[in-house]
Amino acid sequence: MSLAPSAETGLDPAHASLLAEAGRRFGTPCYVTDLAELDSRARVLATAFPDPFIRQYSLKANPLPALVARLGSSGWGANVVSLGEWAAARAAGLGNHLITLEGIGKTDAELGAAVQAVQEGAPLRWVTLESSDEADQLRVLAASPGLGAGQGPDVLLRLNPEVSPETIAQLSVGVGASKFGMAEPELRQLARASRDSGSPLRIRGVHVHIGSQLSGTDAWVEAALQACRIVRDLAQLAPGADTVDLGGGFPAGEVTKPEPAEFRSALDRALAGEGLALPDRVAVEPGRYLVATAGWIVARVLHVRPGRLTQQVVIDASFAELVRPALYGARHEIVALRPSSAGSEDASTVVEGALCESTNTFGLHRLPRLRRGELVAIANAGAYSSSMFSSYNGRQRPAEVLIDDQALVLARPAMAFLP
Ligand code: LLP
Repeated sequence: MSLAPSAETGLDPAHASLLAEAGRRFGTPCYVTDLAELDSRARVLATAFPDPFIRQYSLKANPLPALVARLGSSGWGANVVSLGEWAAARAAGLGNHLITLEGIGKTDAELGAAVQAVQEGAPLRWVTLESSDEADQLRVLAASPGLGAGQGPDVLLRLNPEVSPETIAQLSVGVGASKFGMAEPELRQLARASRDSGSPLRIRGVHVHIGSQLSGTDAWVEAALQACRIVRDLAQLAPGADTVDLGGGFPAGEVTKPEPAEFRSALDRALAGEGLALPDRVAVEPGRYLVATAGWIVARVLHVRPGRLTQQVVIDASFAELVRPALYGARHEIVALRPSSAGSEDASTVVEGALCESTNTFGLHRLPRLRRGELVAIANAGAYSSSMFSSYNGRQRPAEVLIDDQALVLARPAMAFLP
């Protein structure tokens, strides 16, 4: 079947045919990820941040083990925020030495597992700590099996750099008074107290992440400079502090610039301007940039209400499968997967989701006149879509399908609602 190419998404006919086939074979809605696109995004990032940069993939964007394994095969580690994501990274074949644990909500079970990994001789690469309170708890958990000074987990201290990230308020975290990270005085005090108390925690450096979908480099660079200055000064307080983790945030999907290379060059310019060097170990931990554009949701048309120049279309995907439009007002391009010869004049089309909630709309699109049963595809759905799936209304978790070398591979079957 020949399908019309899309100007906005760059979806070519061969690719559109594969998406349509995925919908027919594995049911709709389904998530489809194009591994060639994933590889190409990984290469762009590795060019901007080549070795010896440490590249950690943030699984919260999409923890599907097949994707984590694919990235792992080109040297990517994993940044996880829960035992669940940690298990996904292990299922993808990654050893603990390639895994970092961060997150604002770490439980005793998660901190305890990081200590146990040290006792078993397979420590995580590092654990990022959000507050002195959390550091105290990890210290207590590490001391109780008898780990002595510096024998516990390697940790980074998360800095709240109090900058103004160039993104929407909902995705902005590095701002003063946010719940994320420590202000500089708290962070320095924590390092001092750790040294003075002979804490088992090994402070290796500073972590910053200021927000997601950044449309400018200034705040990210400012935060990075702060982190580099602190690590330089930490040398007296925490011998062995040699690491800065610059977080993620590189834009993809509805925001396409700046490119990762621009973040890197802006950072290098600012460092040179200050006479400052990067520490020995520097990490980035992007999520969205790697997976957003590689992912699609294939959905089927359920109802059409035709108007003279417009149409309203209800599809069988919803905010259970893609919550970003409802939660952040995000726009995801939608294309019709239909033979080009059968094309009609495009109509201004409101695409609505399958849930009885008015916020469940995918917005206005130019689409051909559609009929019940036809297939459409939602673009840029590889990041924060299947990972934010909810089973609201008893919905099943859709199948996860990969496009690997022009073939469709089922990575995970659909999972029924658990009553
Ligand atoms: N590191 C930390 C500490 C993070 O909190 C995040 C994302 C990342 C790295 C990865 O950021 P990325 O490179 O993907 O921008 N659900 C929202 C995005 C939330 C991001 C949460 N933290 C969305 O759909 O846009």
